[in-house]
Amino acid sequence: TKDTFILAIESSCDDTAAAVLKNSKVLSNVVARQSIHEEYGGVVPELASRAHQQNIVPVVDVALKKANISINQLDAIGFTQGPGLMGSLLVGTSFAKSMAMALNIPLIAVNHMHAHILAHFIDEEGYDKPEFPFLALTISGGHTQIVKVSSFFDMEVIGETTDDAVGEAFDKSAKIMGLPYPGGPLIDKYAQNGNPKAYKFTKPKVDGLDFSFSGLKTQIMYFIQKNTAENKSFVDENLANICASIQQIIIDILIEKLKLAVAQTGIKQIAVGGGVSANSGIRKTLLEAQTKYGWKTFIPKFEYTTDNAAMIGIVAYHNFLAQKFSKNNITSKARIEM
Ligand code: KG4
Ligand code: ZN
Repeated sequence: TKDTFILAIESSCDDTAAAVLKNSKVLSNVVARQSIHEEYGGVVPELASRAHQQNIVPVVDVALKKANISINQLDAIGFTQGPGLMGSLLVGTSFAKSMAMALNIPLIAVNHMHAHILAHFIDEEGYDKPEFPFLALTISGGHTQIVKVSSFFDMEVIGETTDDAVGEAFDKSAKIMGLPYPGGPLIDKYAQNGNPKAYKFTKPKVDGLDFSFSGLKTQIMYFIQKNTAENKSFVDENLANICASIQQIIIDILIEKLKLAVAQTGIKQIAVGGGVSANSGIRKTLLEAQTKYGWKTFIPKFEYTTDNAAMIGIVAYHNFLAQKFSKNNITSKARIEM
């Protein structure tokens, strides 16, 4: 059968990304990160939108060049319809629409949350793909969800955060300690030399499979304030132990909910995605869970866990196979149901 070439575009938050796929294989995966937000301690929507406008043409151009194909070989264009920041989504959506129209090829709208989950179906040497049904844990700066995935097109959110996302719990805790944005990777780094049992934080009480992280943030803030009042250098002197303890409570919260999800669904395959799955403590714990709880855990290559366009491409590919296309009057959506 004929190969399918797809150009995919992702612009839901602060990264402008484009990828080219040949069937399930990634030929190129390009991301332009926006460092401008670091100065503000978080993503500034207005700046993000403007940066997308500047980046989109060169990013798509590099993706096509790296894939070594011409635009005439493309079979379809996939793009992120949402959820995300409206001004950011609009840039990718308009670009994808114009290009699909100019090339007279199908346009495929992709749900960003589906993409984080289906990133596991990208062809990679030595990477086992999950089998349906499986549970997906999507953890990033914007999302925290447990999803029951029954097929490429059938997904049900069975748990999600009622306030902050896991990545925000990391980033806000880091900010309280005076670390720069995004603090998640720094907490991970310092935690590696610390004792996770040095300080005890308590898990929030949240029913069922839902999460809450804003109470934990407050708990950490009071803990730092109280100790800093007694010793001005408390954070500096105990950074590794504080980071290890914060990381541990977050891991404990995630594992507790996963155990409950496994008990409720009887599904023991767990696929993790989103930027926070880069966390070395979370990776280690999920690997250990294979022997400890008899789960099979799936952790994709790092470049497919953070926001990227290859994951948009794999969803577009499966839509292409199912002949599910979008109309050219489709619009971006800041919020979309699964
Ligand atoms: O998926 P992502 O790149 O963007 C979205 O938010 O969608 O995720 C970024 C988030 C940030 O909150 C960042 O601090 C967190 O992922 N993160 C980490 C680590 N690497 C990235 N958090 C903890 N440990 C890490 N190693
Ligand atoms: Zn994301």
